[in-house]
Amino acid sequence: MHVIVLGAAAGGGFPQWNDGAPVARRAWAGDPAAPRRTQSSIAVTADPPGRPGPDGTRRWVLFNCSPDIRQQIIATPGLHPGPGLRQSPIADIVLTNGDIDHIGGLLTLRERTAFGLWASAAIHGILRDNPIFNVLADGVVDRRVLPLQETATIAGLEVTLFPVPGKVPLYLEGAEVEIGGESEATVGVAVRDPQTGGLLHYVPGCAAMPDHLKRRLAQGDALLFDGTLWTDDEMVALGVGQKTGRRMGHMSISGADGTLAKLADLPVAHRLFVHINTTNPVLLADSPERQAVEAAGWQVAEDGTELQL
Ligand code: MLT
Ligand code: MN
Repeated sequence: MHVIVLGAAAGGGFPQWNDGAPVARRAWAGDPAAPRRTQSSIAVTADPPGRPGPDGTRRWVLFNCSPDIRQQIIATPGLHPGPGLRQSPIADIVLTNGDIDHIGGLLTLRERTAFGLWASAAIHGILRDNPIFNVLADGVVDRRVLPLQETATIAGLEVTLFPVPGKVPLYLEGAEVEIGGESEATVGVAVRDPQTGGLLHYVPGCAAMPDHLKRRLAQGDALLFDGTLWTDDEMVALGVGQKTGRRMGHMSISGADGTLAKLADLPVAHRLFVHINTTNPVLLADSPERQAVEAAGWQVAEDGTELQL
């Protein structure tokens, strides 16, 4: 399979529209060591370039659909429309949660072109409860429930959703918020190419690393994982927010409970951070935090980063 990171940043992108803190300032200034990144999404195809799918195009599956989808399509020639007058190689879209950075782009894909939309029943429920998503017309967009732990073949890829510790989307938080529960609200995805045997795990949001999750992730050839924050109190310490990573449902990269420590011995060839928040110093190519991540065998994804599995 061919994997392209369409957007490596977390919600709001890098830099966020109102972020004037030091890391983002370098992106605003166009510093080449601080490349800008769009919001969280990847594209995957099992169709080799010379051997298209049944309808004559190379079918791509998007995992999450960010508000930056139009810009991401422009930047990715394989996703350009055609060959028909109203035809897109985007065959299907799979959602991992209901966050705005993962569903907002659906509103851009409203021009009556068919695709399959796959998610847990809970995430489909959120879309149904928000009538603005009815622009994805029934009879055109095929909404398919993908129950957790069941495998569906989607455009030639074997796709399985599995629960990870998380929380409900920010806009659905009530007075009491459960953080770190495992439910349909936040999932990871296993994507397997039955032709090559390549196995990708994509987990853009994850609040903790229980042993059973680590055992699952160890089976893959590649892991694209939640790189939201470097330290849990990063936004508080910078004075740009009140929330910790934990409160937002994200484990951090550093620290005793962080991803580098928890997955230090993970036998996975390709390990990349995605969903990176605008405050995270790993976004800077010349930062000590970036050096630490790379020394631990991880890569910090950029928009356009590709993998072949
Ligand atoms: C998150 O990943 O924590 C959310 O995208 C945050 C948000 O919705 O602002
Ligand atoms: Mn997010």
